[in-house]
Amino acid sequence: MKTIIANFKMHPESELKAQELIDFYLEKTKNLSNVELIIAPPFLYLKLAKEKGAKVAAQNCFYEDLGAYTGEISPLMLKNIGINYVILGHSERRKLGETNETIAKKVRAALKNNLIPILCVGETKEELPERERVIKEQLESVFLQIPSQNQIIIAYEPRWAIGTGDFCDPQVAEKVQSFIKDFLKNRFGVSEIKVLYGGSVDSQNINLFLSQNNIDGALVGGASLKKEEFAKILEIANSF
Ligand code: PGA
Repeated sequence: MKTIIANFKMHPESELKAQELIDFYLEKTKNLSNVELIIAPPFLYLKLAKEKGAKVAAQNCFYEDLGAYTGEISPLMLKNIGINYVILGHSERRKLGETNETIAKKVRAALKNNLIPILCVGETKEELPERERVIKEQLESVFLQIPSQNQIIIAYEPRWAIGTGDFCDPQVAEKVQSFIKDFLKNRFGVSEIKVLYGGSVDSQNINLFLSQNNIDGALVGGASLKKEEFAKILEIANSF
């Protein structure tokens, strides 16, 4: 079964609009038994999504449970409202200054609170010639800090492909994702791990990604805000 994550990013502008999207997608997936949908709305709408019965991911969290950290949301708080997943290390957060070290602390804190981290890795355009080294470092910094039997989802998201329409060649993505799985197996003994692709996924290209052996699903940003478009993505994913 493929996993599709709807990353709403900092959208939509009201709870009512968030509710409309969530209701529409949950209604849609009622008849789709072969696709797993996880919805990642902004913090303010997490409870709503949870109450509607969705599988829900936060888009970030802090690395301490409580304390004098103005403006932060802790993994303990997420756990206490019933959230099961948290996206960490998204490139839009790395761009704002998050380092591999901070992300590793966040992953550890999330796991301590029984949240499943969705760890994003991927290279910038400038890093393309060194893609494998960059991804290896991103993975190593996290996996050196956690026991390898923990459940964690990886999203390979080339930074240059996010929100640009310039998606990665699906065969290249397949190679990178197979590299990620091999690396985690050989270096850390991690054998069962889901690796998703993210970066300008839409209803036209999702089929090309999901038909690859090592692509277990997709992290969808922009297209998850367009009801009909995302419904098509879910339908296609359900057919795998
Ligand atoms: P995009 O975003 O689908 O809009 O490229 C993907 C993501 O940021 O996770």
